[in-house]
Amino acid sequence: MDVEALKEEAGIAACRYVAEGMHVGLGTGSTVKYTILELGRRVREEGLSIVGVPTSVATRNLANEVGIPLANLDELNGLDVVIDGTDEFDPSFQLIKGGGAALLREKVVAQASKMMVVVADDRKKVATLGAFPLPIEITPFSFNTTKRAIASVLGCEVNMRMKNDELLKTDNGNYIADAHTGPTISNPETMEQRLLDLAGVVQVGLFNNMCSVVVMASDTGVSILTKND
Ligand code: A5P
Repeated sequence: MDVEALKEEAGIAACRYVAEGMHVGLGTGSTVKYTILELGRRVREEGLSIVGVPTSVATRNLANEVGIPLANLDELNGLDVVIDGTDEFDPSFQLIKGGGAALLREKVVAQASKMMVVVADDRKKVATLGAFPLPIEITPFSFNTTKRAIASVLGCEVNMRMKNDELLKTDNGNYIADAHTGPTISNPETMEQRLLDLAGVVQVGLFNNMCSVVVMASDTGVSILTKND
């Protein structure tokens, strides 16, 4: 099966976690896109009543296109569930996220949700995090100083993320530094804290102790992985 078909399978299967009346965090990326399309279909064709909170401008635009009613997180008293993609997940369901540069809003929304469901194909499952470069959102102010400080803390190469030959700007007006740690992140909680201690770091793409379910598609079908399996 091609990867796109696996993403679609996982994205649609995760809709089982959404029920009538729920407040739902809508993640960002090419896998959760299929969740959003399916939820939109259920809203339009089945009269499902939900309120979505998008984690990026791109997701807000997509959710508007498919007819999911939206609210700002501040207008709601928390969320029932957030469904989001990931770049990697390890056996403890610690995640690397931010490949789509939406990590800050994704983390704010995840922390406001009672439950985080991740949608992924089986390429995202790893023994140890870090083969995927770790995205870190940093302030534009003196970004090279912050980039050097990150490299010094982690002892690895760090690259500023570019788009069309310019520094990529996030939805929040910040930059992304990608840290090439290699698959060595055995203690993501300590690493997250050491990075957050740097003043120019806004947020780190390590999502620790947030995800409780991974809906994972592979050639043999969709598996529902739960944290204590
Ligand atoms: C967005 O910033 C990311 O956290 C995405 O959720 C993550 O990169 C997964 O995206 P894909 O489903 O497109 O791989």
